[in-house]
Amino acid sequence: MVSYERYAIPSTTAEMDRLMTEHPMGDAVVDRVDGRRISVAGRWLADFASCNYLGLDLDPEIIAGIPEFLARWGTHPSWARAVASPAPYQWIEAAVAELLGVEDVLAFPTLTQTHNGVLPALVRKGTVLVDTRAHRTIHDAGKIARAGGASLRRFRSGDVAHAGRLLGLSDRSPRVICMDGINSMTGNPPDLPAFAALAREHGALLYVDDAHGFGVIGERTGYDPSPYGRRGNAIVRFFGERYDNVVLTAGFSKAYSSLLAFVACPTELKRYLKVMVPSYVYSGPVPVASLATALLGLQVNQRRGDELRAQLWHKTQTLLDHLDKLGVATTNRSGFPLVELAIANPEDLDAVGRHLFDQGIYVTLAPYPVVPRTEVGFRVQVTVANTAEQLDRLLTVLDEVDDRFGFRRPHPERPS
Ligand SMILES: Cc1ncc(COP(=O)(O)O)c(C=O)c1O
Repeated sequence: MVSYERYAIPSTTAEMDRLMTEHPMGDAVVDRVDGRRISVAGRWLADFASCNYLGLDLDPEIIAGIPEFLARWGTHPSWARAVASPAPYQWIEAAVAELLGVEDVLAFPTLTQTHNGVLPALVRKGTVLVDTRAHRTIHDAGKIARAGGASLRRFRSGDVAHAGRLLGLSDRSPRVICMDGINSMTGNPPDLPAFAALAREHGALLYVDDAHGFGVIGERTGYDPSPYGRRGNAIVRFFGERYDNVVLTAGFSKAYSSLLAFVACPTELKRYLKVMVPSYVYSGPVPVASLATALLGLQVNQRRGDELRAQLWHKTQTLLDHLDKLGVATTNRSGFPLVELAIANPEDLDAVGRHLFDQGIYVTLAPYPVVPRTEVGFRVQVTVANTAEQLDRLLTVLDEVDDRFGFRRPHPERPS
């Protein structure tokens, strides 16, 4: 008999385990969905934990378009991509390449798979530098690269000078600097032009994960329907940057409400990745329904995306303006629909979460060690599908949380 005692939960993750097993807002089962309302344990709540920013998960046009794809391609192709891919893959890759303004695109089921395969293939036995606040999946991919013989270093988040010093110290090429685009916790972009310049100066690659930005932020003309810019073509275009020395990765699982991810790169690099990335050669593809929602989502984006983004901006501003009035600083300086709030006393997280739940608001709790102890609190995400009434209710409940428990002022990541 194997003993599972060795798998006791370590004390560092005990709080997370407790929230997931005992708290109504952790590891929940959603029994019904009605617009951006969810029913958990028989209770209806306004969902502010969804990353379906453009509301495409509920879009009638997209939902109605799926059966035609299933009738034509079946439910699931089941070939490894290196063996064969249904044509919608090709259509999506071409459409995304055109949208971003890149030479080529290679799609994978998830960003986790993309990072785990693409990053080690790019780094080889060289050097990988990872921003300390990059998404966990990038850190893990860095460790895979290290196991393959690369040198792995971390630089202080957003600190171009620190990354530059580490680059100067490393003599092992290729060298790859990795970071989030729109950061998954703060909602802010990095100084992409400065990091791209650093990469070019050192002959390195800048590897960016814009999981959140893709579909929300995009190219800016100065006359845009919202400060997010146009077309949702992600962070490189948002900054008006070029793609040389920049490898952009992003996914459809947030703004596009679909299971699919991609790396944007020159065709020559795509050819290399197709044989070097294990998941392209050995793993199964995404279900046809996901290819359908990705493709139909791209079509909707072309026709209605800017209008949806303008609505999203206004809804998010309502929340941010209210927090300003309350004097609550969040990390969010960008107006992106992802707002992290730290509570005054980390010990109150359980009670704060229960209050939100009891008052009909569902958010993403952020316990330690998901965030540092000083930033324990919760994350609110706004989507186009959240109604004005839901937003009103959210603001009222945030006032109550502030009265009863207090938010941390200023936010530890954003000193005033
Ligand atoms: C910044 C970032 N990168 C990667 C991922 C993982 O994406 P996927 O579910 O496609 O593996 C997430 C998911 O939340 C994310 O926020």
